[in-house]
Amino acid sequence: MQNLKTQPVNLTHEITAALESARMRTTDLLAPLSRQDLIKQVSPLMSPLIWDFAHIGHFEELWLLRELGGQSPAVADHDHVYDAFANERSVRDQLPLLDPEAADAFLESVRQKVLELLPQLSLDEKDPLGEKSFIFGMVVQHELQHIETMTQTLQIGGLPAPAPSRPPLVSAKGDIIVEGGPCLLGAGAESPWAYDNELPQHEAVIPAFRIDRGLVTNAEYEVFIDAGGYKDRSVWSDEGWGWLKEEQHIDGPLSWERTDNEFFRQRFDQHEVVPPHEPVQHVSWFEADAYARWAGKRLPSEQEWEKAALVYGPMLEHLNGAVWQWTSSHFAAYPGFRAFPYPEYSEPFFGDEYRVLRGGSWVTDPVVARLSFRNWDYPQRRQIFSGIRCAADLE
Ligand code: AVJ
Ligand code: FE
Repeated sequence: MQNLKTQPVNLTHEITAALESARMRTTDLLAPLSRQDLIKQVSPLMSPLIWDFAHIGHFEELWLLRELGGQSPAVADHDHVYDAFANERSVRDQLPLLDPEAADAFLESVRQKVLELLPQLSLDEKDPLGEKSFIFGMVVQHELQHIETMTQTLQIGGLPAPAPSRPPLVSAKGDIIVEGGPCLLGAGAESPWAYDNELPQHEAVIPAFRIDRGLVTNAEYEVFIDAGGYKDRSVWSDEGWGWLKEEQHIDGPLSWERTDNEFFRQRFDQHEVVPPHEPVQHVSWFEADAYARWAGKRLPSEQEWEKAALVYGPMLEHLNGAVWQWTSSHFAAYPGFRAFPYPEYSEPFFGDEYRVLRGGSWVTDPVVARLSFRNWDYPQRRQIFSGIRCAADLE
C-alpha cells in the first residue's frame, strides 16, 4: 500500500485485496462465537459484538456506496442505530440491532455492491473527498480498528482468542540517547491513508532524552507491585491516586490475580500463570505513569516517541506488533489541522480528557500501525492492549 498514488493501474486490485483481507480477519475473529456471545453486552465499556460488526457494514455503506457511489440508504434506521455518537456503548444491546444472520447478509450485500462500484471509479481523480483511494483506506482501517475493539470485548468477556493470541516476548535491554534537534513529525506523501489527526507534517524541536529499547515486562511490573508500588503515594499523579482510591480493588493490571505468591491472569478464555517475559499489557495511563516514576523514569511525549521511532527505529524493539505505548501527551490537533473527511473522526476528542498511545499492539493490523498513527483513550482505560515504554531526561 506504499505507492497508492503512483500505481493507479494496480489500485483496484490493491484496494480489493485490502478490503477482503480485513473482512477475512473479522470473519475469523467471530467464527468461534455462539449467537449469545455475539449479542450480549459483556461490559458497559464495550458494545455487543454484533453492534461492531453491523457498524462496520454501515460505515462501508455510508462512505463507499452513498458518499462515493451516490446510492441511497439501505435502511433508514441504521443511521441512528449504528452511529457511535448517538448511542453510548453501555446501552447498545437495547437498540433494535440486526441479528447475526441479518447482519451477515447486510455486510455481504454492501460488500458485493462495493466491489461492483470500485472498477467504475477513476481513483486518481481529485474530488471533494480528496483522492478516492483515501476513502477506501479509511473504510479498510475502520474495519481493522473495530477488529481490535472487538478483540478487547473478547478479552474482557473471557471469550475465545484470535490467533496469534499474545504479544511477542521482550528481549531488548537498556536505553539509547536521542540527540536533541529538529525533526519532521506527522504523515507525509508516503502515507496517503493517514488520518486527519496525523497531518499536517510539521517540524518540532525536541531536546535530547533517553528512551528504553524494550517494553516493560510482566516480571518488571511484578517487582513494582511487590515493592508496594500501588501503595506508594509518591509515585502517583494526583489524578492517578484519586482513580486508584475510587476504584479500591486495583492492585495489578486488569484481569490479574495473586495466588500463593504467584501471579495469575485471565487471558481470553484461559486462566494461566503470568508469563514473565511478555510485555505488560492492560495497564491504565495512571499505572504506566506511576510505574515509570517508581523506576526513576517518565513516559515519553508522543513527539519524543515519534522522533525516536523515526531516527532510531531499528534500535527499539517492538515499536509496533506488541502493545500500545502510553505517552505523556494529551490528544491535540497539530498546527494547521483540518478535519477530514468528517469532523467526528478526531476533533471531538481533542483536549485534556484523552491521552495518546503510540505504536500498535499485537492485534493492530500493519495497515494501521504507521509510525505517525495516533491512538487515544481515557487515562483510566485498561481493556485496551496497552503497555509501557519508559523514557528519561538526560542527567
Ligand atoms: C482511534 C481507536 C480511538 O475506536 O474510537 C472506530 C477508532 N473511530 N470508529 C475508536 C474508530 C471510529 C477510534 N480509536
Ligand atoms: Fe467506528
